[in-house]
Amino acid sequence: MARKPRIVIIGAGMAGLTAANKLYTSTSSNDLFELVVVEGGDRIGGRINTSEFCGDRIEMGATWIHGIGGSPVHQIAREIHALESDQPWECMDGFSDEPKTVAEGGFELNASIVDPISTLFNNLMDIAQGKLAPNSGGDAALKGCTSNGGFGNQSVGAFLRQGLDAYWDSCKDHEELSGYGEWSRKLLEEAIFAMHENTQRTYTSAGDLFNLDFEAEREHRMFPGEEITISKGYLSVIEHLASVLPPGVIQLGCKVTRIEWQPESKKPVEIPNGYDSSSRPVKIHICDGSVMLADHVIVTISLGVLKAGTGQDSGMFNPPLPSFKTEAISRLGYGVVNKLFLQWSPNGNQTAGANDKAKFPSLQIVFHPPKSELRHGKIPWWMRRTASLSPIYNNSNVLLSWFAGKEALELETLSDEEILNGVSATVSGLLPAPKPHKENSPEFCKGSASEGSEVRFVKVLKSKWGSDPLFLGSYSYVAVGSSGADLDTMAEPLPKIGSIELDRGVHHPLQILFAGEATHRTHYSTTHGAYFSGLREANRLLQHYRCVGV
Ligand SMILES: Cc1cc2nc3c(=O)[nH]c(=O)nc-3n(C[C@H](O)[C@H](O)[C@H](O)COP(=O)(O)OP(=O)(O)OC[C@H]3O[C@@H](n4cnc5c(N)ncnc54)[C@H](O)[C@@H]3O)c2cc1C
Ligand SMILES: *[C@@H]1O[C@H](CO)[C@@H](O)[C@H](O)[C@H]1NC(C)=O
Ligand SMILES: *[C@@H]1O[C@H](CO)[C@@H](O)[C@H](O)[C@H]1NC(C)=O
Ligand SMILES: *[C@@H]1O[C@H](CO)[C@@H](O)[C@H](O)[C@H]1NC(C)=O
Ligand SMILES: *[C@@H]1O[C@H](CO)[C@@H](O)[C@H](O)[C@H]1NC(C)=O
Repeated sequence: MARKPRIVIIGAGMAGLTAANKLYTSTSSNDLFELVVVEGGDRIGGRINTSEFCGDRIEMGATWIHGIGGSPVHQIAREIHALESDQPWECMDGFSDEPKTVAEGGFELNASIVDPISTLFNNLMDIAQGKLAPNSGGDAALKGCTSNGGFGNQSVGAFLRQGLDAYWDSCKDHEELSGYGEWSRKLLEEAIFAMHENTQRTYTSAGDLFNLDFEAEREHRMFPGEEITISKGYLSVIEHLASVLPPGVIQLGCKVTRIEWQPESKKPVEIPNGYDSSSRPVKIHICDGSVMLADHVIVTISLGVLKAGTGQDSGMFNPPLPSFKTEAISRLGYGVVNKLFLQWSPNGNQTAGANDKAKFPSLQIVFHPPKSELRHGKIPWWMRRTASLSPIYNNSNVLLSWFAGKEALELETLSDEEILNGVSATVSGLLPAPKPHKENSPEFCKGSASEGSEVRFVKVLKSKWGSDPLFLGSYSYVAVGSSGADLDTMAEPLPKIGSIELDRGVHHPLQILFAGEATHRTHYSTTHGAYFSGLREANRLLQHYRCVGV
């Protein structure tokens, strides 16, 4: 009796469930495959983790649809009516009334200071991303960027700082500021620039922008149109993809510890009619000690887990992955980004009544640069690269900050109390010093929360992507020393096939396939990149069994 090819998908995140959905819906009528999805965690979704905080729907992981024009995630969300909800959710519409920019020491910054630096930064990023020609527009600072003749292989971080220097060269005649205490114009401009850099760190997950490859940045694509969040939660898209699968296909709590495969065809066997049912080449070891045999395995685990699993003394793959693969894995970047949710208490206690008129503004935060003697001693180091603190929707008492790099990792180790104290100290450090500058104090400090009464936060929730062994970080980026080609390499199936001749000789082709956000050359780091990669690998198998369009 001929057995059906067995496909095991490792990981029930966006990539794995998209692949499962495609394989199942394309072949369920002719019952072609045996399909299993093994997931190490106790839930589906992976880096999509819709949750709840203070009664509001929030996202611990993936948050935005990055451009609705042509996004498959948007299309699904719209089709399943996940974009409509009567419950409050993390829609971030508080930004529609201009965020306030506040600087350490207690200064609300005028748009006339902030806007030119924001424009400079955005233009520089547009150049880095290939959306704007370096010499376009009449901006002298941007023209300055072209004068070094191509940017070689440098980092986005170096490029940005060059742009800032060129800007300063082009406006030496700007007047010194007054009314901002110890802040000079140059210091303030640098600190505003750094605030934007910190936002960019969370967008890319590169803890240090000097490690973010400049050349590759322009290959990354976003969809056009608005960026929105999903009212019913990102998880609704995942649940929709999983809903077609019969019960039992997804196996939760099944952490894969080892994958044995057969890199070479030792004894090619001619099989006239396709499938050889006698042996399945891949052996998958699960943490409970059980073993699963498969013809094909689609690996969707994160780049961070792959980095850890292919390191020197860790053998997730047996035999180890070939060096072209492990080198790409080690060169590519994979960073930590975390979200912190806080409940603000307008009147210092936990019972936020409906008659509370106080509203926490969307804050953009400007800190003194590293090593500055003007730094406020009580602000903890792990808060100092946080670019914003904003309500999750207009008038919400739930606030959100994003963290990247070592600050994000530190956040994971802190107790709730340490976080509450650290954030309170920070916000207090943004309030005016007791004596001067009263007229410049941020408005929100003048109301109920002013004059000695500390700004109070009462509850916290944070993500922990860096220390969770199933993720070991948040998303990938192209690090200096790597390139877009490494992302393509990530996607190559094993055993590697060189030519058609060799192809015929391979006894068991397509044993290990790779999907996941880190395998997509232009949409890496996103949910739709993961989606596309899952489709790609499902189609690779469908094509292999010549059932495209069944
Ligand atoms: C804080 C944060 C914010 C983000 N914001 C956005 C955003 O706004 N927009 C956007 O598009 N993207 C965002 N992303 C990125 C997006 O979430 C990911 O790119 C995408 O979800 C990755 O999907 P995946 O299927 O490739 O991987 P994953 O979701 O990681 O799926 C892999 C699965 O494999 C499982 N697994 C791991 N190891 C094993 C093992 N040994 N055995 C069995 N199972 C295992 C994991 O538990 C996981 O479920 C964000 C991510 C984070 C962390
Ligand atoms: C936010 O809510 C207030 C009233 O609560 C309203 O006046 C304001 O227009 C709202 N802003 C936005 C952007 O919806
Ligand atoms: C801020 O800008 C306003 C006008 O836009 C101006 O009147 C005010 O003096 C400025 N304040 C500072 C401190 O520059
Ligand atoms: C990167 O830049 C350095 C210094 O400019 C140069 O020596 C090196 O050859 C460059 N490498 C590549 C791959 O372009
Ligand atoms: C997912 O969300 C839950 C809260 O709903 C939280 O306990 C868990 O730690 C989150 N996972 C990660 C990796 O942040």
